[in-house]
Amino acid sequence: MTTPVLQVRNLKRDYVSSGGFLRPAKMVHAVKGVNFTLEKGKTLAVVGESGCGKSTLARMITLIDKPTSGEILIDGIPASAAHVTRELRQKVQIVFQNPYGSLNPRQKIGDVLAEPLLLNTSMSAAERRDKAMAMLLKVGLGAEHFNRYPHMFSGGQRQRIAIARALMLNPSFLVLDEPVSALDLSVQAQILNLLKDLQDEFGLTYVFISHDLSVVRYIADEVMAMYFGDVVEHGSRDEVFGNPQHAYTRTLFAATPKSDVESIRARVEKKKALAG
Ligand SMILES: Nc1ncnc2c1ncn2[C@@H]1O[C@H](COP(=O)(O)OP(=O)(O)O)[C@@H](O)[C@H]1O
Ligand SMILES: [Mg+2]
Repeated sequence: MTTPVLQVRNLKRDYVSSGGFLRPAKMVHAVKGVNFTLEKGKTLAVVGESGCGKSTLARMITLIDKPTSGEILIDGIPASAAHVTRELRQKVQIVFQNPYGSLNPRQKIGDVLAEPLLLNTSMSAAERRDKAMAMLLKVGLGAEHFNRYPHMFSGGQRQRIAIARALMLNPSFLVLDEPVSALDLSVQAQILNLLKDLQDEFGLTYVFISHDLSVVRYIADEVMAMYFGDVVEHGSRDEVFGNPQHAYTRTLFAATPKSDVESIRARVEKKKALAG
């Protein structure tokens, strides 16, 4: 049996919100004991309403934030707070809802993509450039974009850039925290298709965070639903969508409008076929 890419055991994160005038400090149990195992090449979707702990979980498994307690194993290696090595850090990458905030406005896109190689490898400038260019093309952008600045791109293109940057060091898994939530529906479908194509080609492993169940239905192999810091449901996509077990998940699913990504995709494909 191969080692799972990611193992999470009884992971917890408490925050103490600082009090103020007439307001006592309060303990928030943002994540209350999460367990899961994720195999290579799979997509785990984490769903739930705003404030249920999705981003807190994302920050812990990408080693940005330290758990209050619990264990994270990446490729079987424990990521104990005591020694998170650079090697371990390279194995986990995150893409946020709004990548613009993390792009330096004065840095050309080619340099954005080459930078992780400069910082973490001994590749020559020419090798870095070649690899950055290859990745730019992989995510559906063109060679002419290499020397452009972030403000010259659309939201969907910036998300492609963020995905490309996240993949430069061949991570073991990628966390995508609401990666398409700020995009128009047709652009959402394009980015989701890109993520699927990249996953097929490179055997990528995703933790995909979303509050949008139509997106989740399209992308996920497994679905985990969170509610106030607890996991209330976890199973294959078909199990969870076909037969939600918990009152909360049933309500969540009942509230989803039928704006199906599959149908958006079909429309986009048709448009493309007509244009080509
Ligand atoms: N840095 C922080 N300090 C204090 N409370 C936080 C912090 N980050 C998140 N929280 C709280 O933890 C809970 C979970 O937040 P979050 O993980 O951002 O949820 P989600 O991503 O599902 O919307 C919320 O109650 C939020 O207010
Ligand atoms: Mg969030």
